[in-house]
Amino acid sequence: MNALIVGGSRGIGLAFARALLADASVTQVFAAARGAKSAGGLAELRDQYRDRLIAIELDITDEPGIERAAAEVRAITPTLNLLVNTAGLLHAEGLMPERRLADVKSDNVLRSYAVNALGPLLIAKHFQPLLAHGERAVLANLSARVGSISDNRLGGWYAYRASKAAQNQITRTLSIELTRRASNLICVALHPGTVETDLSAPFRGNVAAEKLFTPDQSAAYLLAVIAGLSRESNGRFYAWDGSEIPW
Ligand SMILES: NC(=O)c1ccc[n+]([C@@H]2O[C@H](COP(=O)([O-])OP(=O)(O)OC[C@H]3O[C@@H](n4cnc5c(N)ncnc54)[C@H](OP(=O)(O)O)[C@@H]3O)[C@@H](O)[C@H]2O)c1
Repeated sequence: MNALIVGGSRGIGLAFARALLADASVTQVFAAARGAKSAGGLAELRDQYRDRLIAIELDITDEPGIERAAAEVRAITPTLNLLVNTAGLLHAEGLMPERRLADVKSDNVLRSYAVNALGPLLIAKHFQPLLAHGERAVLANLSARVGSISDNRLGGWYAYRASKAAQNQITRTLSIELTRRASNLICVALHPGTVETDLSAPFRGNVAAEKLFTPDQSAAYLLAVIAGLSRESNGRFYAWDGSEIPW
């Protein structure tokens, strides 16, 4: 099988790449990210798995670049069995999750939508032909429990919550359209748990040790969830432990 990890340079995406490379049944792992060819974590993996790891330059907010990345992958393989989109944005310079309405800044909301919602849609648009074939294939978008509308009890985090809710709707819509043409495909949204990465660093002070996963742990849990998906799983939202999250 061949797999593509979008956002494979750091955090959970890099852990996915590491776990897939350690699995001898995986022929090729494509890791796509900004600066993928020079990213430190990926460079270490490339030294170890030179023939099986291919770094692809990709900015999820740049559609022509996504199109070029898809052509680059297609020139190497006509089929992917797994596409995991892990690229995500919660905070950055000048962008912090809002505590209240007064903190909302339109530029930051749009930036969050560009990475968390539009990005996965464009990835699906350009990589979908590689997922339509005679073998089982999974398209998994890393979402977040806070993107669940029915699970929202705390409020706050407008841009992140809303962009992940939009991503969830996109995943659900893809699950309907794509599987009409490609009955081999399963599209899901996944919640990785709270994971020790740059993304969660400012917010995990109150998380109990047993509820805080390393990226390798989370990737292993999610790969087990992915392995257990069936046709009935298409269009659903699952947590790291396989439990279903309401939209
Ligand atoms: N960590 C958690 O506790 C947690 C909880 C719930 C959900 N999630 C979700 O899980 C996913 C992975 O999170 P993480 O914790 O691994 O985050 P992370 O360590 O911050 O990594 C984010 C990844 O997204 C990539 N990315 C960001 N903007 C990009 C862009 N414009 N183009 C291409 N790649 C881009 C980053 O690459 P660059 O190096 O190019 O920035 C990096 O590889 C995210 O979607 C996040 O929302 C995480």
